[in-house]
Amino acid sequence: MPTSATKRELQAVLEIDGRASLQGEVKISGAKNSALVLMAGAILGSGDCRLHNVPNLVDITRMGQILTALGLKVRQHGDTVDIDTRNINPTKAPYDIVSQLRASFFVIGPLLTRLGTARVPLPGGCAIGARPVDLHVRGLQAMGANVRIESGIVHANLTGGKRRLQGANIYLDYPSVGATETILMAATLAEGETKIENAAQEPEIVDLANFCCQMGAKIKGAGTNTIIISGVDRLKAIEYNVIPDRIEAGTFLVAGAITKSEITLSSVIPSHLAPVIAKLNEIGCKVEVANDNNGSYLSQSLKPQRLRLIPGELRGIDIETLPYPGFPTDMQAQFTALLSIAEGNSVISETVFENRLNHVAELQRMGANIRVKGNHALVSGVPFLSGAPVMATDLRASAALVIAGLAANGKTVVGGLHHLDRGYENLEGKLQQLGAKLRRVLPD
Ligand code: UD1
Repeated sequence: MPTSATKRELQAVLEIDGRASLQGEVKISGAKNSALVLMAGAILGSGDCRLHNVPNLVDITRMGQILTALGLKVRQHGDTVDIDTRNINPTKAPYDIVSQLRASFFVIGPLLTRLGTARVPLPGGCAIGARPVDLHVRGLQAMGANVRIESGIVHANLTGGKRRLQGANIYLDYPSVGATETILMAATLAEGETKIENAAQEPEIVDLANFCCQMGAKIKGAGTNTIIISGVDRLKAIEYNVIPDRIEAGTFLVAGAITKSEITLSSVIPSHLAPVIAKLNEIGCKVEVANDNNGSYLSQSLKPQRLRLIPGELRGIDIETLPYPGFPTDMQAQFTALLSIAEGNSVISETVFENRLNHVAELQRMGANIRVKGNHALVSGVPFLSGAPVMATDLRASAALVIAGLAANGKTVVGGLHHLDRGYENLEGKLQQLGAKLRRVLPD
């Protein structure tokens, strides 16, 4: 596992030679957002859990450190993570790591439902918005937990002499991915039935439900807006394969589109990318399932396949980010980079997070013509971008700047790489393999 970045590594930059032409095939890693919640979900069963297709990322390392602090034994070898969940101390989640990784809050549901008590620091805000956890907390309270927040720590316990959480009907005010995951995991070992209405429908929720069902949980409706969980007495530890990362896949498709390069992605689930592919088609590119007779990506098959991006002349379009199956907020920054060199005007509306247009100022440095009005980015396409020194402001913004640098005239120098390393496994290595000229440079 990568260790925490040293001060010198934090000052590293990516130097990118522009006007790149990419070709060949790239292997997409396992989904960060699935792997993180499955690592927390492993707490639900006692024994040896083994996860395959886990990406090698700083966020995964941090989640491993949190589980280790809770008393679990965690070992990563290659893309496999082994977690021995026999011994757990539910009160030991360390503040300094939880505060750096929002996903680490996900341990609260499994700890509470398996051990009857949990003590987890609040994850705090982050660069893209306040990101509260009120929906997680209200869900646990509806299931009979006593949850109080003291000095930045969330304390959750069972009340009224109860030994298990109680099934409940929970309507989410917003289809939050994290809240759906917290409640789903808590409900697997609760007494009775839990119904989550207005649930998130992201593929990562389905992956978590499949993981829990394989452990012995009873869950129906994952992937729709109503999920019903019938609590069981215990769950067993299992071996499981994480789904491919649809956001990493989408990022490479945009890299192909912006550099006008035909590239192939291997091991992706095309239906998970439906909103991204629809927008790439509208922009003027084609995406085909390689080796598929009719080239359709709409098949609901969950079998990983190869996808080919066929570039085209880029034209401006409008995009609004929405919960799945809408257009993913995690692809908004990359598409902003792409549309900045598309012919005509585009309006990009960010509705999921309140502060997720920070990459615009950096794209402007590269010559993009973009105005921000509230949560809208109004883009007037320019013929080309120019390389410049830019600073990544969050994870997906960092990918957007790398992509912009690949297409720009001249050299782009991207700083703030600790954001990139949180969520992209070996992005520069994979781009180099496709023929891009870029290198990580450490300060002397
Ligand atoms: C997850 C993903 C993240 C993605 C996001 C939306 C992980 C580790 N991260 O984040 O990459 O961008 O889904 O697809 O899986 N909200 C509340 N109260 C809550 C919870 C959320 O108001 O209790 C709000 C958030 O502030 C945000 C919106 O709901 O504005 C969406 O958040 P949510 O769906 O929960 O995203 P995360 O699970 O944090």
